[in-house]
Amino acid sequence: MKPKLIVLTGAGISAESGLRTFRDSDGLWEGYDIYEVASPMGWEKNPTLVQDFYNMRRKDVMAASPNSAHTLLAKLEEWYDVRIITQNIDDLHERGGSTRVLHLHGEILKKRSVLNDTELYPVLEDIQMGELAPDGGQFRPHVVWFGEAVTMIEPAVLEIVQADIFVLIGTSLNVYPAAGLVDYLRPGVPRYIIDKKIPPVKGSDYHLIEKPATEGMAELMELLKK
Ligand code: APR
Repeated sequence: MKPKLIVLTGAGISAESGLRTFRDSDGLWEGYDIYEVASPMGWEKNPTLVQDFYNMRRKDVMAASPNSAHTLLAKLEEWYDVRIITQNIDDLHERGGSTRVLHLHGEILKKRSVLNDTELYPVLEDIQMGELAPDGGQFRPHVVWFGEAVTMIEPAVLEIVQADIFVLIGTSLNVYPAAGLVDYLRPGVPRYIIDKKIPPVKGSDYHLIEKPATEGMAELMELLKK
């Protein structure tokens, strides 16, 4: 049995692939009102604006490639049972080779009917208003909006409580319940943070690697590889 290495990632791990983060200086939330483009209220008010926001980000994701932080995480599967829990809606962990990825906030390359949040369909092009699912509901991105339930949080807690090692990469820990996952770590589990600017986090027993994700993962590999 390989030790369980649980990784919680955020937008920072995809930054070096050219995808914008949310709260950095040039972040997405600088240019958009979260509630207009990523909430049920925004969808009610102007669904086309919401579709356009995700259609644009989907094009960016498809044009991006995994970076070495993604691929090194996949390489760790040689020695560890690696479980990725990501807040990201891109597919760069999967394209980087990770085999167990749990998306807390959905996946931009999937769509679903507004009437059913479990029947998922792949999507590689724009979703248009008027494009209906077989159940007659309007197609929308399979993404968790602010104010919507994070249905994957329970499976994520079940992963975190089993961690033998924990790594936090590229998240400001601003958004709950994702940020609260760190509270479920068993005491004494070795824990690492890789971030270009280490976020405030409770507890002083973290091994801090204050570097961009690609450099930080190269350093972590030296510490963890067998
Ligand atoms: N390498 C490592 N870390 C980086 C890099 C980089 N190249 N660039 C940015 N970071 C770090 C920042 O320092 C910050 O800690 O990544 C983090 C990005 O934070 P946010 O922009 O808040 O992104 P994230 O934490 O993933 O946001 C969580 O908020 O808006 C919602 O649903 C959205 O999933 C998202 C959630």
